[in-house]
Amino acid sequence: MARQFFVGGNFKMNGTQKDLKAIVENLNNAQLDSNAEVVIAPPALYLDFVKQNLNKSTVEVAAQNVFNKPNGAFTGEISASQLQDLGIKWTILGHSERRNELGESDEFVASKTKYALDNGISVIWCCGESKDTRQAGETIKFVENQLAALAKQISESDWKNVVVAYEPIWAIGTGLVATKEQAQEVHAAIRSWLKQNVSDKVAQETRILYGGSVNAKNCKDLAKEEDIDGFLVGGASLKPEFVEIINSKQ
Ligand code: G3H
Repeated sequence: MARQFFVGGNFKMNGTQKDLKAIVENLNNAQLDSNAEVVIAPPALYLDFVKQNLNKSTVEVAAQNVFNKPNGAFTGEISASQLQDLGIKWTILGHSERRNELGESDEFVASKTKYALDNGISVIWCCGESKDTRQAGETIKFVENQLAALAKQISESDWKNVVVAYEPIWAIGTGLVATKEQAQEVHAAIRSWLKQNVSDKVAQETRILYGGSVNAKNCKDLAKEEDIDGFLVGGASLKPEFVEIINSKQ
């Protein structure tokens, strides 16, 4: 079964209502590849605003985070049921900015992923190594450990609602995109790990996105690689060129 190309836009902590309206209008007016699944993740404060302004049925809205408990005394967090209430079907989890800036461990990310999946929210689950880890030649081992922590908490059937985003930290927001060979090598290793440790079906069906300085110029080449099933885009998702990235398989 061919894997559907997937492009996520992670707006991070960017945008006002005016900015987001312009981004959404650009998507509303664009000719988007109808074969691509597109998900955009505005800051939590604007999830509903973005959803209300979107009129493209092929574009979904995602949260950038969700907690691993039901509603209650968890100041500053948002719940899976609140996302459901707004009709939000996706969340990003495990982004390196949260792992590193906010100290989210592999286990905590895995428990949030499990909770989201159990409560009807699909997950763009992020992994990826630092520059030091890459220079030490330990990239694949590092990513495999992140995968193992996730696989420990989710079941084989959960994987159908998980999209993996491989995002080398050294490439995020730096303009230093991984080469297509570097990205393909890690994507193939992730797929092979899934085959050996989860199942052949999960390995074949799970979309593996690349993230890290993707732009309109480099997306087409990366998209040709066998195990690159799409992108998680940060900075360029705030710009008109996001449309070209969505259409990079055309
Ligand atoms: O989630 C997106 C990634 O962190 C990539 O960000 O495209 O700005 O490098 P970037």
